[in-house]
Amino acid sequence: MTRILIAIAAILGGIAAFVFSGVYDVGADTPHWPITRKIIEVMRDRAIAVRASDIRVPDLSSDQLILKGAGQYAAMCVGCHLAPDTAESEIRPGLYPQPPNLSKHALDPQTVFWVTKHGLKMSGMPAWGLGHDDATIWSIVAFVQKLPGMSPQQYKDIVAKAPPDEEMKAVDGKADEHGHEHGAAPANKSNPGAGHSH
Ligand code: HEC
Repeated sequence: MTRILIAIAAILGGIAAFVFSGVYDVGADTPHWPITRKIIEVMRDRAIAVRASDIRVPDLSSDQLILKGAGQYAAMCVGCHLAPDTAESEIRPGLYPQPPNLSKHALDPQTVFWVTKHGLKMSGMPAWGLGHDDATIWSIVAFVQKLPGMSPQQYKDIVAKAPPDEEMKAVDGKADEHGHEHGAAPANKSNPGAGHSH
């Protein structure tokens, strides 16, 4: 019994020494060991699969929805996830793990919804659900489903036609003006907490 306690104390002491020593390199330019990376990837994929599998996917085929999502994507995602007309960005090479190129990799709508809404810890992938309602996130999902098949010209055209991102408008004050003109708050503002994903 005492031996077991001594062994446990030694292991905990070892872990504490490792944590406090500062030997672990937190730099994003130092890759994980392959085994660490594998464990994190499996854990991430399983965590997403378990949470995303029972999300009910609404009809994503409406052109209006896809168009709205295009504006959101161009404003919030393209720097990290690229687009048919954007092969690289300033921020992307330094991100670790690397964000997938969503103009090339098709993912199922449940995964895209869950990850976009909740983000991914310690990766740089933000939880967009903190500032956007589920309807807005579904519009992004609808657009992301269309991305892999799109040509650079089609991408440019759809983004040019898309309604501007609400958040961006709010930042430069136009959303306010618009709201006052019509005597109402801007439509479609986020509604946190409404519509749980499951
Ligand atoms: C600051 C950079 C950044 C921005 C901006 C960003 N992401 Fe990500 N995203 C990441 C990173 C990094 C990962 C990879 C995380 C990993 O591999 O664990 C990721 C992963 C993902 C994944 C993949 C999940 C999987 O299972 O492979 C999806 C889908 C995604 N992001 C959607 C979006 C959408 C949609 C937006 C815009 C609303 C967005 N992201 C904006 C950094 C970003």
